Amino acid sequence: MGHPITVSKSADRTVTDTKSVPFGMVPTTHMFMASYRDGAWQDSRIVPFQDLVLSPLALCLHYGQTVFEGMKAYVMNTGDINVFRMEKHHDRFNKSLVRMCMPTVPKELFYGAIEELVRVDADWVPIDGSLYIRPFMIATEGRIGVKIADEYLMMVVCSPAYQYYTQPLRVKVETKYVRAAEGGTGAAKCGGNYGGAFYPTNLAKEQGFDQVLWTDAATHEFIEESGTMNAMFVIDDVLITPALSGSILDGVTRDSLISIAADKGIKLEVRPIKYSELVEAFDAGKRVEAFGAGTAAVVAPISVISINGVNYNCYTGEDAVMYRLRNYLLGIRKGDVPDTHGWNHVI
Ligand SMILES: Cc1ncc(COP(=O)(O)O)c(C=O)c1O
Repeated sequence: MGHPITVSKSADRTVTDTKSVPFGMVPTTHMFMASYRDGAWQDSRIVPFQDLVLSPLALCLHYGQTVFEGMKAYVMNTGDINVFRMEKHHDRFNKSLVRMCMPTVPKELFYGAIEELVRVDADWVPIDGSLYIRPFMIATEGRIGVKIADEYLMMVVCSPAYQYYTQPLRVKVETKYVRAAEGGTGAAKCGGNYGGAFYPTNLAKEQGFDQVLWTDAATHEFIEESGTMNAMFVIDDVLITPALSGSILDGVTRDSLISIAADKGIKLEVRPIKYSELVEAFDAGKRVEAFGAGTAAVVAPISVISINGVNYNCYTGEDAVMYRLRNYLLGIRKGDVPDTHGWNHVI
């Protein structure tokens, strides 16, 4: 059974130039909503962007049943618009929802919502940037008692996106606070993971860093991820990234770069990596590249890693492997490089 979507279009067709506006500040004209009631998804609708009416008792406000995704649409060189790796984002959305005891979203509902919303707001997809797409779900049932909600709202909102970070990042290896522990919710894209990260990240910012590089909760020796990005390193021309441990988000960008590295014959190691290994490489005078990989930032070069109070400089020269990887990835999205993995969902 399909999910028919009713579309109420706004009379206002203004598209705002958001190039000089920080990421995510300006929503597009419309948004998608679907309600989950009586055990079923219903009322799929696209409406002008507007505030929500929500009970102050809505369970999402109290007990954190909120899950989100972050994906992007691009204008290709042909003029077509594609949504990158729809399938993997849908799959991850559902995995996060299962972890948070929330109802999963069938493929036709997820795909239909995004395809239709991007079509309606197609004028907002910048040729020289991308359209950031934010599907999310909240528990709307109004009731103070702690329980799994019976009612939910799934929504999709969008915002034009340009460069996320304008400078290479200075990051601090965090060995006191943790983002997630094995068996916890680190692999789910649920709101609480982000709220819990603010305090330590803010402390790092006060010390002059942009982000923290999280370490594992059990030993604080292994690198996990950074902010809203997976961590990647290039040491001696080998691309190294932490294996998924259950406490790290299975990043779509990470997964794409791993495939690209394999395609391009770049040596690759997906395995646990101790920060002491980075110290050894720096101390041996090796060229170390470090970068964050994520939908919003794509490839964010790291220029400085602070480890136990010592700042180490990473390589960010133009011939860095990370820029080659980024360019391949952007090339696939724009249609300059063949999409051999079927990642572009042209709408
Ligand atoms: C905690 C965390 N790690 C990694 C990533 C990168 O994942 P992706 O490449 O799918 O955006 C994100 C962003 O979604 C994130 O929030």
